Amino acid sequence: MAGIPHDHYEPKSGFEKWLHKRLPIVGLLYDTLMIPTPKNLNWMWIWGIVLTFCLILQIATGIVLAMHYTPNTGLAFASVEHIMRDVRGGDMIRYMHMNGATLFFIAVYLHIFRGLYYGSYKAPREVTWIIGMLIYLAMMATAFMGYVLPWGQMSFWGATVITGLFGAIPGVGPTIQAWLLGGPAVTNATLNRFFSLHYLLPFVIAALVAVHIWAFHSTGNNNPTGVEVRRTSKADAEKDTVPFWPYFVLKDLFALALIFTIFFAIVSYMPNYFGSPDNYIEANPMKTPASIEPEWYFLPFYAILRAFTQDVWVVQLAHFVTFGLVDAKFFGVLAMFGAIAVMALAPWLDTSSVRSGKYRPMFKWWFALLVIDFVVLMWCGSQFPTAIIGWVSLIAATYWFAYFLIILPLLGVIEKPTKIPATIEDDFNAHYGTGGSAHPAE
Ligand code: HEM
Repeated sequence: MAGIPHDHYEPKSGFEKWLHKRLPIVGLLYDTLMIPTPKNLNWMWIWGIVLTFCLILQIATGIVLAMHYTPNTGLAFASVEHIMRDVRGGDMIRYMHMNGATLFFIAVYLHIFRGLYYGSYKAPREVTWIIGMLIYLAMMATAFMGYVLPWGQMSFWGATVITGLFGAIPGVGPTIQAWLLGGPAVTNATLNRFFSLHYLLPFVIAALVAVHIWAFHSTGNNNPTGVEVRRTSKADAEKDTVPFWPYFVLKDLFALALIFTIFFAIVSYMPNYFGSPDNYIEANPMKTPASIEPEWYFLPFYAILRAFTQDVWVVQLAHFVTFGLVDAKFFGVLAMFGAIAVMALAPWLDTSSVRSGKYRPMFKWWFALLVIDFVVLMWCGSQFPTAIIGWVSLIAATYWFAYFLIILPLLGVIEKPTKIPATIEDDFNAHYGTGGSAHPAE
């Protein structure tokens, strides 16, 4: 697909020309900043920038924490207390890092659901979507390993439970588990490798983010209508877009100021709200906590993992046809990763020719149900697994799979979309009137 026609960087001074010939870095930055952006983007398009700032915040605070932290089972817990009590500003740095993870996941879920509603995953943005999914997986691995580092009760028992899941894979499972742990159980070797990987992964995420941004800059942004920017001529493209600088930079800065005000209020006044009090008790391999509950952002997938017990007929069927290879535990692990895999396959499962959910009357309802489903799963994941919770989890987990595997493919065939605006310019004018132009030359 040809890029959106627009003005490119032209080196002017002698030095600029000299540098541009050798390293066109100013041109790259200029083209990134001035990229033509659909002028009808709404407030759901701020989360990418919020995520970028979260990543910067996590890396910056993490590097300072690592200067004072000790990855040794005998010292880790005390070193975190030392950060909180003795290091100047250490409590704020730690609370920013802790709550930064929460903001990161709030932003990523809103970013993902935005993409699911406006069909941002659909052609030609499949690669952006898949890279996004890889980022999401890397974020989960990073958060999981980070949570083990303070060496509290939840750190230890969470690591024991989650690495145990890999042990459920038939055949190679125990080997993978031992490899993850660096031995037969969660020990000092585990803490060391988790620390090493927890430091490394954010930089892998940063590299993936660069590719993610490169990918959607190649296709151009999606927008609430799902209608593409006209590429017929530069003049047409300019009617649908405004340059990212200054328009969206200012909008994003406004959003960031607002979100980070709330963030710092939480960091300052209720820093432990999202955490578990059990993690302020040092890890004790001899004492299992009353309930082992993952962090809130893992709960929906944790609920899916727990939903498929031995009494569920699909689990029994899988057990039967695989001659006992797939048991309930392994089925749960498959379901948990499968729930993410079906989301990653959305670009190929959604058969509708219409991109944005705004013009899809039936899709809208099913999508709303998916959002509710996600919240219900999150709630189920936080509850003690009674029979009722088991049932609710199973229904919610089934809906999650049905949405991607049945509803999305079917809707494309049976649904009759409503009228779509012919151009982004038409949509913009319908909302904001025709007065004023972002391009004074017009
Ligand atoms: C560290 C994590 C991430 C960062 C920093 C990031 C950054 C961004 C930015 C800056 C944008 C453009 C602005 C916007 O749409 O808000 C964007 C777009 C997009 N992101 Fe992400 N993203 C991340 C994770 C994800 C994940 C997990 C997914 C889902 C799989 C995803 C899917 C998309 C898609 C499909 C677009 C294109 C939307 C469009 O063209 O308008 N991203 N991302």
